[in-house]
Amino acid sequence: GNYCSRPFRKEKMKKILLLGIKILRNEGWLNTLQDGFSKNPFFHGIIAEVPEQHRTKEGHTKIGYALYIYSYSSFVGRAIYMEDLYVMPEFRGKGVGKALMSKVAELGLAAGCHQLNFTVLNWNKPSMDFYLSQGCFDVTATIGYHCMRSEGETLKHLAQL
Ligand SMILES: CC(C)(COP(=O)(O)OP(=O)(O)OC[C@H]1O[C@@H](n2cnc3c(N)ncnc32)[C@H](O)[C@@H]1OP(=O)(O)O)[C@@H](O)C(=O)NCCC(=O)NCCS
Repeated sequence: GNYCSRPFRKEKMKKILLLGIKILRNEGWLNTLQDGFSKNPFFHGIIAEVPEQHRTKEGHTKIGYALYIYSYSSFVGRAIYMEDLYVMPEFRGKGVGKALMSKVAELGLAAGCHQLNFTVLNWNKPSMDFYLSQGCFDVTATIGYHCMRSEGETLKHLAQL
């Protein structure tokens, strides 16, 4: 509809990004700005904006964002990975999340990607329903794919073998 998605403009983006990430993450968000806005950024992003007349009580016109990275697999080749998708509560259910995800899909296809991958927590039923409504499927349920992780001491130990 009226929502336009576009690539990040560095300075303008910082406030909404910090706000969203503060809400979504209790810790670990302090490095986000330098990670995303340095010479070799670790992520890319898109923001959703509403026209001035629809701004929030606090005066925000940037009301949602998606973060993504490019990835690669020998099976599928190029892929795009969506890390964060966030829409401010008062703007949910209006097609903004769909527009943001559509933009990530469009950028992925334009870059020659064959898959859009992302994870969702099993208790996040509204988000799961949202993704299912967009035709996505659960790779854990269908092909037994599990997300694995190494972190903290285990990661350090792994690096020192
Ligand atoms: C998930 C989220 C991004 C969805 O954004 P949104 O703007 O509310 O979603 P949209 O309005 O674009 O919804 C688009 C479609 O999803 C469907 N949908 C949205 N929320 C839904 C829900 N709770 N249950 C079922 N369907 C839902 C809509 O019916 C619509 O389908 P249609 O266009 O085919 O009719 C948003 O709710 C959000 O920011 N949640 C909190 C953060 C979060 O949990 N992010 C995901 C982390 S994995």
